[in-house]
Amino acid sequence: MTILGFPAELKPHEKRCAILPVNVKAYGLLGATVHVQSGIGKHLHVSDEEYVTAGAEVVSNRAELLASADIVPSLHKLSTDDLSHLKPNTITVSYLDPFNEKPFITSLCEKKVTSISMEMIPRISRCQKMDALSSQASLAGYVMVMQAANQLDNVLPMMMTPAGTLKPTKVFVIGAGVAGLQAIATAKRLGASVTAFDTRSVVAEQVQSLGAKFLDIDLGKTGETGQGYAQALTPEQTQIQQREQAKCIADSDIVITTAQLFGRKPPMLIDAQTIATMKPGSVIVDMAAESGGNVQGSVVSEIVIQSGVSIIGTGNWANGVAKHATQMYANNVQSLVSEFWSLEDNKFVVDVEDEIQSGCIITHQGLVANSMIKTFYASNPDQTIPGEKT
Ligand code: NAI
Repeated sequence: MTILGFPAELKPHEKRCAILPVNVKAYGLLGATVHVQSGIGKHLHVSDEEYVTAGAEVVSNRAELLASADIVPSLHKLSTDDLSHLKPNTITVSYLDPFNEKPFITSLCEKKVTSISMEMIPRISRCQKMDALSSQASLAGYVMVMQAANQLDNVLPMMMTPAGTLKPTKVFVIGAGVAGLQAIATAKRLGASVTAFDTRSVVAEQVQSLGAKFLDIDLGKTGETGQGYAQALTPEQTQIQQREQAKCIADSDIVITTAQLFGRKPPMLIDAQTIATMKPGSVIVDMAAESGGNVQGSVVSEIVIQSGVSIIGTGNWANGVAKHATQMYANNVQSLVSEFWSLEDNKFVVDVEDEIQSGCIITHQGLVANSMIKTFYASNPDQTIPGEKT
């Protein structure tokens, strides 16, 4: 019997979780036993009784839930205290941020936990149903437009009324990956006039297909990694980008920045001088505020006013539409578990050689099993790799 134990999320203000009653039923069909911590769905107005009706056992004691589980899926990584309750070889599934969480990865090795990082699931077609980065980023794109619209004193669409004509709000989206494209689509649906820019020129067509304009900036050669992520720009290219986008920023009512670089700090794209050229009352949303920021002066979890411009750094964007975000995240996790579930043996089969698992398993049998993370740690100043003798 394989037990999946779902703990409640501990992070303050987090409403999402890793399972809904509909997933309990699906895990039941696989032959798995599901335990959930009492209150796991309370922020989503899903009661313990609904989980029980779907076939789960509700466990009040978190330590007991963790100690009895073979697989522990959650949204955020467990606490270090949680790890002390796990059996060796327990599989954890969650966001892990392995590039920045080396001490935690070390603890996972010490406890011989097999950890799966949802951010590291490869961006290939076979993995789309498991791709939590995309599901949550897409909702983030929507939420950022909603927050910006709430902050702005204008409506987004053009309105021709007997009392006068209202011009459409001008929105500029920087970074047109998953979140940026959803922000563009949402702003367009609300009637705004939208322009976007991305260093990957291949997205120009996608931007235009949503009815937005693509700002043409000649940066020379810009690259993409094998997985489609942007390469960092040179300092000269960054300067050109900042100079060329400045006019568009000054002319916009809302600027939404979504630029990220996989495994690295996001690029700083808008400085205080550029912000000062915007009309007072304008709004900037910095999606990257939590990880270092695209915008000078943005503050994590806050809305600050700089030169009369509101800069929104709320972060944890998908939490703003927690029920749908949970639906998508829980389905991502369920797809991952189902993909590697053996009906014959009634268990999740770990195979670190598998194309998907080799990408997202970070620790296994007391060692760092992921080659990208190993290489990254080896390139750090201390060069130590958790689990390996120095
Ligand atoms: P991301 O979150 O890493 O970055 C967001 C966007 O910022 C990217 O489009 C990137 O090009 C852009 N960016 C970076 N530096 C910038 C700068 N200085 N100025 C302006 N924009 C900048 O990207 P995301 O959304 O996670 O997507 C990454 C790639 O993965 C994309 O190519 C996407 O199409 C691909 N993908 C593939 C999937 C698949 O299953 N095949 C699923 C989801 C995404």
